[in-house]
Amino acid sequence: MNGLSNTKIRGRTEILGDGEALAARAADVIADAMRGCSAPYRLCLSGGSTPRATYKLLARRNDMAWDCTEIFFGDERFVPPDSPDSNYRMARETLLAGGLVRPRALLAMPTDGTPQSCADAYEEILRQQYGASSLDPAVPLFDLMLLGLGDDGHTASLIPGQPVLKERTRWVAPVPQGRDEVRLTLTYPALESSRLTLFLVAGADKAEAVARVRAGDTALPAGGLQPLGEVVWLLDRAAAG
Ligand code: 6PG
Repeated sequence: MNGLSNTKIRGRTEILGDGEALAARAADVIADAMRGCSAPYRLCLSGGSTPRATYKLLARRNDMAWDCTEIFFGDERFVPPDSPDSNYRMARETLLAGGLVRPRALLAMPTDGTPQSCADAYEEILRQQYGASSLDPAVPLFDLMLLGLGDDGHTASLIPGQPVLKERTRWVAPVPQGRDEVRLTLTYPALESSRLTLFLVAGADKAEAVARVRAGDTALPAGGLQPLGEVVWLLDRAAAG
């Protein structure tokens, strides 16, 4: 695929007034998506700063079906789980704080081996949960995929110029370069295998990347994503440009 050819990523867009309104709407969309779910409902979390407020709101709700939910991570910084840069720690301090959120399973990306051995270990966890060794387009791996977007057009840790962008067989891969720390990330096939993909994007610095990705610009990593199911963009006014 090259140039402006990916129409799948455009999806549906909602523009919210500011970051607070974005977080509140995101929490409602996630609650609605999970309502009445049967086990296992597989939710994949995004990292970074934008979802924090949403996770905090979800942590306070008592109308969520956590007992049938398995929580996964789309990417991780290759740091110890108690590091301030850890996406797992961020989730623990927001979504999992307060004790109301008791998921059926919480499956963080391991960072206690080598980047490759940890990527392999997480891939094995995904295959076991999925119950097959190859992804069936008719059976999405995830029910809900939460994603963010960087101003360079990256999502999860699909970072511009990195070999991981060419990975179409592995479900999880290390990303040794492109950021201050090594990253682990789900690859395109695993990220795309979702019933609903929800982008949460805030800030004027993201506006150009949002416009290019939604126009299907595959020169940007997120622009190359072809999710199986529905795509919804929740943007604050600044990111909507
Ligand atoms: C991460 C994320 C990453 C994030 C974007 C946006 O681990 O950093 O998974 O893909 O979603 O970088 O980050 P912000 O929300 O902090 O702008």
